[in-house]
Amino acid sequence: VTGKLVLTHTIEEVRRLLDGHRSNGRTIGFVPTMGALHAGHGALIERASHDCDVVVVSIFVNPLQFAPTEDLDRYPRTLDADCQLASAAGAHVVFAPSANEMYPPTLRANESLQLTSVSVSKVSAPMEGISRPHFFTGVATVVAKLFAIVGPCRAYFGEKDFQQLAVVRRMAVDLCMPVEVIGCETVREPDGLAMSSRNRYLAADERVRAASLSRALQAGRVAIESGDCSRERVLRLMRSTIGDEAYVDYLEIVDAHTLAAVDPLVGELRLLVAARVGSTRLIDNLGATAP
Ligand code: PAF
Repeated sequence: VTGKLVLTHTIEEVRRLLDGHRSNGRTIGFVPTMGALHAGHGALIERASHDCDVVVVSIFVNPLQFAPTEDLDRYPRTLDADCQLASAAGAHVVFAPSANEMYPPTLRANESLQLTSVSVSKVSAPMEGISRPHFFTGVATVVAKLFAIVGPCRAYFGEKDFQQLAVVRRMAVDLCMPVEVIGCETVREPDGLAMSSRNRYLAADERVRAASLSRALQAGRVAIESGDCSRERVLRLMRSTIGDEAYVDYLEIVDAHTLAAVDPLVGELRLLVAARVGSTRLIDNLGATAP
C-alpha cells in the first residue's frame, strides 16, 4: 500500500479504515507510541512496514500510566513532526485520539478514567513495578484498549522497555488477543545512550553523563560473558561504572524469560538499570549469556 499518510483522531474512523484493509486481505502492523517520535520508533515502523501491508502508528500520551508527581504535563507533544517521521518510515495511518476519545467523560465514575483495568501479575512486580507501582496497570489497560481498537495485527514494541514488552506479551497471550507481539532491538546514539523521548529533557552536561548507563550494562555483559557468575560482583562493577554520573534507582540481573532475579549468574540473562540524571529518569537494558 502506498500513498498519503491518513491522520485520524477517532476510534470509529481508524476501525473502519483497518477493517477495510483486512477485508481486502491486507495484514496490519501496529506501532503504539506516546509520540515525540525518534529513530527508535522509526526502526519499529520500518520493521512493521517490512513485515505487513498496512502500518498504523498510535500517538497517545496515556494519563493512566503517569503518577501525579510525574511528567504528564511536560511530556513532549510534537504531532506534526511525528507524522512526518512516521510517514517517512513507512506508516500509512496515524491514530492520535484525544484523552476524551480514549476515556469518554460521560463514562468516568468518581473521577476514575475508567473502572476496568488490566493487571499482569509477577512480570509487573519487580523493578519498574516497585519504583512506579501505577505504571504497568496503566500501560496494560491502554494497550488492551488500543489492541481492541486496532484489531488483529502484529504489534511492535522496543526492547528498551524490556519489562513493558514482557507485560504486554503476557497480557496478549493470557487474554487470547488476536495480536502477535514482536520485540525489536534498542536503537542507540553513537555513545551508547538508548534512544528515548525523555532524552530531550537532558541538558548538555546531563546528556554526556547519561551515557554511563549503557557503559555500565556493557561492562556487566563483558564480565558475565568472560565467566564471572557472581551477581554481587557484577552489580558492584556496574554501580561503580555509573559512579557519580547518575543517581541509581535500581540495577538488576534477571532471567531473560521470567524476569526473576538470578544468583549465581547462569543462562540467558538481562541486565537492567533505572537511574536519574538531573531530574530525568532513564531506563536501559542489555542481554548477556553466561558461558
Ligand atoms: O512505550 C510507550 O510509548 C507506552 O508505554 C505505550 C506502549 C505506547 C503505552 O502507552
